Amino acid sequence: MPVIKTNVLTPLNENKFMFLRNVFITIRNKRISSVETSTAIHSFRDWTHLLCLPGFIDTHVHLSQYYIRGRNGNDLLKWLQENVFVEEARSRDQDYARKLSHLFFDALLQAGTTTSVIYTAPQSTACEIAFETARELGVRAMIGKTMMDTNSPADLLENSDQSFQESVALFQRWHQKTDLLEYIFSPRFAPVCTPKLMQRIADFTRANNAFIQTHLAENTDEISLVKSLFPDVGSYTEVYHKSGLLGPRTILGHAIHLSEKEIALLAETESKIAHCPDSNFFLKSGSFSLASIKKAGIDFALATDVGAGTTLSMLEMMKLCNYRQSDYRVKPAEAFYYATLAGARILGKELEIGSVTAGKFADLIFLDLNPDNFANGEDLLSHIIYLNREIKVKSVMIAGSTVFSA
Ligand code: GUN
Ligand code: FE
Repeated sequence: MPVIKTNVLTPLNENKFMFLRNVFITIRNKRISSVETSTAIHSFRDWTHLLCLPGFIDTHVHLSQYYIRGRNGNDLLKWLQENVFVEEARSRDQDYARKLSHLFFDALLQAGTTTSVIYTAPQSTACEIAFETARELGVRAMIGKTMMDTNSPADLLENSDQSFQESVALFQRWHQKTDLLEYIFSPRFAPVCTPKLMQRIADFTRANNAFIQTHLAENTDEISLVKSLFPDVGSYTEVYHKSGLLGPRTILGHAIHLSEKEIALLAETESKIAHCPDSNFFLKSGSFSLASIKKAGIDFALATDVGAGTTLSMLEMMKLCNYRQSDYRVKPAEAFYYATLAGARILGKELEIGSVTAGKFADLIFLDLNPDNFANGEDLLSHIIYLNREIKVKSVMIAGSTVFSA
């Protein structure tokens, strides 16, 4: 029963966090059993020179694009054609896919991300390899193979039946078969998916309580393309709604350019949003209307969207989340929430992960930051967010097991 004496910074809700100095975290059966100011146990690890946070939750990231971060920024559709599709085709080579998976998960842990929601390249083998690597390294993740059964380059285009059946087979092989791993159905976006494929995904996921992720309204040319491909449907959001894809277990990446009617539809269906500030500005896609989405009561959380995002650092996403809003000041407490507990919430896991709370899984990170010199939690949290490049993640624990040490 490990006991760690340390300092804790944890979100409580969207507006509140808690800072505790010199407390004892006791871990039992993969979970935090207590966080207390004293302990009866004599032997504990003294990590009072470090700062413990809940592990970060990255709600939208493409494993298959890790190598092409920062490459040839361009408008979305061009960037996909010229960079992403070429790179994702390389994952057909299983040695390449394995190397990429290892690099990706190592970097993810080094960044302090303990839960991630991942798209792999479309090849089923690449997804299988991602699951195997995640299992080997002990990371918590939802992983799905990207699906694309129309309007795609020949070396990525899938037969519709095969795309669906391979996804179901991966779901059956991996979903909740270990403590940490789940499957998420991942149709890339409406321009490359047939209505038939989207409907089959909707039917299957509804019958099996499974999650879906896709992209929505990221770029204005993308929206025009969707309008031309689905001329009888009123909006991009309605294309997904008509196919049955919207709902409380659906995570939509970006969701930047939305009408009031579309925002209302997302709220009504309780769909979730992965907000990707780095990516949105790398591709000049536009800015996320954080205040309107918040006002509509739609749950959203932060994400890196590597490779359109340039880094796996969720600390940097907290900073960019504020920097990228010109008319709304994102408070440190909010940014912290969006990088942790909000992610847990959109995944339906807010009772399991996302904060340093007794009863939750011990998904903890320890920053190399001695809080002695900080007068209070506010100063400390601001420092972590805005000076994040000066801070190293020293140790990462998932479900009570140490998975990374610097
Ligand atoms: N839209 C469809 N596919 C992608 C992708 O891989 N990255 C981003 N940023 N947007 C997309
Ligand atoms: Fe994406």
